[in-house]
Amino acid sequence: MTVAAPLAPDPLAKPLGGIDVSDPAIYQQDTWQPLFARLRREAPVHYCAESRYGPYWSVTRYNDIMTVELDHATYSSEIGGIQVEDQPADMKRGSFIRMDPPRHAAQRRTVAPVAAPVNLASYETTIRQRTRAVLDALPRNEIFDWVDKVSIELTTMMLATLFDFPWEERRKLTYWSDVAICNVNAPDAPVRSEEERFAELLRMADFFKALWRERAAAPPRLDLISMMAHGDGTCDMPEPEFVGNLALLVVGGNDTTRNSMSGGLLALWQNPKELAKLKANPGLVPSLVAETIRYQTPVIHMRRTATRDAELAGRRIRRGDKVVMWYVSGNRDESVIDDPDAFIVDRAKPRQHLSYGAGIHRCVGDRLADLQLRILWEEILGRGLDIAVMGPPRRLYSNFIRGIRELPVRINAG
Ligand code: HEM
Repeated sequence: MTVAAPLAPDPLAKPLGGIDVSDPAIYQQDTWQPLFARLRREAPVHYCAESRYGPYWSVTRYNDIMTVELDHATYSSEIGGIQVEDQPADMKRGSFIRMDPPRHAAQRRTVAPVAAPVNLASYETTIRQRTRAVLDALPRNEIFDWVDKVSIELTTMMLATLFDFPWEERRKLTYWSDVAICNVNAPDAPVRSEEERFAELLRMADFFKALWRERAAAPPRLDLISMMAHGDGTCDMPEPEFVGNLALLVVGGNDTTRNSMSGGLLALWQNPKELAKLKANPGLVPSLVAETIRYQTPVIHMRRTATRDAELAGRRIRRGDKVVMWYVSGNRDESVIDDPDAFIVDRAKPRQHLSYGAGIHRCVGDRLADLQLRILWEEILGRGLDIAVMGPPRRLYSNFIRGIRELPVRINAG
């Protein structure tokens, strides 16, 4: 006779008002889907009166998220920042993702060229060479961690190339990115308090300042730091802004792309028919990349703060309220995306997703991320690598980055 295990509490049995999707545990356990499905159905703009981050609104449908994204006069990134969790007032980090116009536009203009098509073309050869070297060096017929050996390695190499960062020290970039985004209460967090986080980020700032001074004193080169140190619009940017913006690139370009590399492999493993389609038609790679970015949704949410009273999907938002756009939910909105919980590599409109945001803050690195992922999959398919996932992923405890910390795999070779 088998004895039934005690049932876990059913999150859907809660009254609507008690649903708190800011709980990082639901992303670590990957149990967020039914909660958001219920909110989209029953309370698409939902008020959570009590959470560890205070009261907040959840915007869960695709089109309502778009409304908030496009109305930056009503929904500010500057007043309260971009995460449901407020940053301590004395430890604010300045960068243009946390700014409203006009300051936002001026700073974005200085950084955006790094991922402009003309520069991307020059990175393609380097990215491809490095991707090949990483894949060729992977162990065969033994279990290893895909996150560490591939996803982290490739994204960190890319950032080190952009900055012309000292090569041997490039894992510092990975560490700083982890420090910047971690939930300090997570058991595996690299720092344990906001004070510790701030101290580490000041160390990062010192490192970048030294590089900046070195590049400013040397003839112009093609790396981002040199370009900014010599550029007309940027050479006299105050140091804190310069450092803040570099930090934004470190974080923006690191965890997000890394988790798309891990999430894509996992999704293909879980959907062997999709993998077969891809092997039969490698021309689907760009579509696979877009679908991976939708399905993984590496940035779980962005937060805004209402600058005035407003109405959203019939709900009254008050000036000063926290308004959270849950991209994970908008990307699974069945009223906009067909069969949204399925991973499908040949969708009719694969680019229809919210993972890169929209409006004035839309990701500046989107094409760079697409390029890195496209090259990775072209090279994997070109080599005919038979990669098996050997165990469940270990997921990040965070309500901001949908991260995979560890993914055991094995490359089967004859
Ligand atoms: C799959 C990879 C990536 C994802 C999913 C992603 C996602 C996002 C999201 C959701 C935003 C905010 C959009 C909004 O508020 O509307 C953003 C902004 C930004 N991202 Fe990315 N990102 C990725 C890769 C990158 C890369 C590779 C870089 C740079 C090298 C980068 C740099 C930035 C910057 C600088 C911003 C701020 C833009 C602004 O405020 O105007 N991102 N990204």
